[in-house]
Amino acid sequence: MQDNQIFLFFAKYIEAELGIVYAEHNYFQLQNRLEEIAKLLGIPDIQALYEAAQKGISGPFKQLLLDISTNNETSFFRDEKVFKAIETLIIQSVKEKTFNTLRLHLWSAASSTGQEALTLAIIINELKEKGIIDSSYSIVGTDISERALNKAITAEYSQLEVQRGLPTLLLLKYFKKDDRDRWTASVELTRNLQFKKLNLRDSLVPMQDGYHFILCRNVLIYQGVEGKIDIIKRISACLAPGGFFIMGAGESLLGLSNDFDQVMIEGAVLYRKKAA
Ligand SMILES: C[S@@+](CC[C@H](N)C(=O)[O-])C[C@H]1O[C@@H](n2cnc3c(N)ncnc32)[C@H](O)[C@@H]1O
Repeated sequence: MQDNQIFLFFAKYIEAELGIVYAEHNYFQLQNRLEEIAKLLGIPDIQALYEAAQKGISGPFKQLLLDISTNNETSFFRDEKVFKAIETLIIQSVKEKTFNTLRLHLWSAASSTGQEALTLAIIINELKEKGIIDSSYSIVGTDISERALNKAITAEYSQLEVQRGLPTLLLLKYFKKDDRDRWTASVELTRNLQFKKLNLRDSLVPMQDGYHFILCRNVLIYQGVEGKIDIIKRISACLAPGGFFIMGAGESLLGLSNDFDQVMIEGAVLYRKKAA
């Protein structure tokens, strides 16, 4: 069996599961990752891994394949303007009683290792502490990568990770450093946070009254146009009327959905779900 055929087989599997396309010029990367999986599973080489795959891909084999196919790059307050815009919209929507509820529901879809969801928790905690809002809240973080989710659940970060985007005052206020130089988020942040495994390509179960803010950032870039349209349509169904859909700094809904009005705020572009 030619190596190229083996890479094509795994690339097709990953595309079918996640919608992530492995171009041929990235096969060297796929090769390294498949070698890593073979080693972890105690399988001698890629050829033997391919033969094992012919009997079916499931359990730890499947999860390892999904984990190695994803890029989990993230950081606290990634794209500062966007989080400033979210803060402003949270204040506005609470003051104007936009959502007719005292509890805010937020979803970090593709939460990776948790920094995005924790950033939201910090923003809301700060607003509550300053007496600007008095709403309770819940934040759900979902991702396909178990490796990323396990880290999100521990809420434990290295010095380098907390230095990326997290202002020192907030770090010292909300995180505790242990004797291994690891920083763990306080219960104050994590008690309203929940992380779950979810493939955005699978059917999404809408929350009863809908989410008020859904962040779906830096994940749709890996999907083809059809995949993007499909995921956005199903995410849109999970938003409360008037709820906000937030993408990554370089991403846009242009040509992908008519369910939203564009909102320009604090120098960032966000999307608001139109009334039904
Ligand atoms: C680059 S990270 C973005 C993290 C965060 N949203 C941010 O912008 O900083 C992309 C994340 O999307 C996840 N992902 C990729 N495809 C997915 C899918 N089909 N369903 C759920 N999560 C997916 C990856 O595991 C990864 O953690």
